[in-house]
Amino acid sequence: MFSPLTHPRPAATIEISTAADVLIAQRRARVLAEQLGFARRAQWEFATAVSEAATNILCHASGGAIEFDADDERVEFTAIDTGAGIADLDRALVDGVSLGSALERGSLGCGMGAIARLMDGVTVETSACRGTIVRAYKRRHATARTFRSSCPR
Ligand SMILES: Nc1ncnc2c1ncn2[C@@H]1O[C@H](COP(=O)(O)OP(=O)(O)OP(=O)(O)O)[C@@H](O)[C@H]1O
Ligand SMILES: [Mg+2]
Repeated sequence: MFSPLTHPRPAATIEISTAADVLIAQRRARVLAEQLGFARRAQWEFATAVSEAATNILCHASGGAIEFDADDERVEFTAIDTGAGIADLDRALVDGVSLGSALERGSLGCGMGAIARLMDGVTVETSACRGTIVRAYKRRHATARTFRSSCPR
């Protein structure tokens, strides 16, 4: 099992401003989960959730960052941007729902739902003034999933 005594704290921050940054964040996520001893499937689930969050930063907020953290029990990412926020968070979480310009581009509208399915716990804070923070964790040994969201106005 991962021990902070034998492994340096794997915190890291990847700035997201290009499509290449999304790939870097995805790769970093998978390698981090591998280093922490997660099963192969869980490594890719974590990496895919990170990729969806980073793509949302790129497409809907035009820049931000993915931060990683981990402890003995779980691996976590936080996607942070200072964009315009998610106008209707409840609808954005529904599969098949794209909002705003994403709707016009014909996006699938499945990214947020995928993050919720792939991770064990997700918290979304979004506001038109401050942007969006998506924090999600995956346990080494998964139990019940949790989801919380808030959109202070
Ligand atoms: N970081 C964000 N800032 C602002 N709006 C966002 C952000 N993330 C998501 N959204 C809004 O929530 C909607 C749903 O996001 P979701 O990731 O589920 O779908 P999508 O990005 O439209 O399509 P897909 O991810 O399937 O390509 C988006 O269409 C967008 O309007
Ligand atoms: Mg998306």
